[in-house]
Amino acid sequence: QQELSTQWLGHSFSYFEELESTNSHVKNISAEEVTHGMVCLADDQIKGRGQYERNWESESGENLTFSLVFRPQTTDRFHVLTLACALAIVDYIDELLPNSNVCIKWPNDVMIDQKKVAGLLTETMFSGNTLDRLIIGIGLNVNQKAFSSEVSGKATSIAIEKGQTVERENLLSELLSRIEYNYNLWQRRRQDLLKSINRNIIGYGQWIELIVNGQLLEDTFKMLGINKAGQLVVLGEDGELKSFSYEQIRLVTD
Ligand code: BTN
Repeated sequence: QQELSTQWLGHSFSYFEELESTNSHVKNISAEEVTHGMVCLADDQIKGRGQYERNWESESGENLTFSLVFRPQTTDRFHVLTLACALAIVDYIDELLPNSNVCIKWPNDVMIDQKKVAGLLTETMFSGNTLDRLIIGIGLNVNQKAFSSEVSGKATSIAIEKGQTVERENLLSELLSRIEYNYNLWQRRRQDLLKSINRNIIGYGQWIELIVNGQLLEDTFKMLGINKAGQLVVLGEDGELKSFSYEQIRLVTD
């Protein structure tokens, strides 16, 4: 483990060669032992989990699959925080690959030229009505060169885009610093954070199609961006504003 330049994120750090899932692992840590800013990294996940109950496939030892634990003193909706982590990834890839077209795809993917390079899976645990922990799991394709037939053509990695492999330790340390920075923005300067997220989200300011609760809507909607609660705000053809939480909608972008 190399030196981190963060103030608190990752100061409690656990590494495993193999785990079922880093998200599941940090879920099972007792309330007494879990700490704000804890990071768990595994080189290989046997049962890596993705959104919509999917599996998350990642070649052993090539990528970054890790979970972050936050214990914010807040009752806010948390989706903005997931987007804040996605933004940190976007910003860093932008620096590594200055000419790449990297952006956030609602609700929590990071894409390079319409191919997925990272996915985030956020889970919460409550004790009664209070939030015990917020877990943000990140799967970032770093050095993987080939993908299974299921995702081939729809997935990419930093190495594929850069044309050379990338050192993972550095990358993780740099990412954690940026995530910590964005976490602080989330707490103190949320409007600035939202502006940056909106600037980097696919479809911003454009007319898009929406799948709401599994149904493709006939109308198109102008995407106005993410609001403070992390909902997507759109303008209907009828001039009405609507907002949706991340559970409710999926976008039709392809
Ligand atoms: C998705 O795009 O569907 C989300 C993928 C999230 C994968 C990461 S890898 C680390 C963490 N542990 C898991 O089991 N899943 C997340």
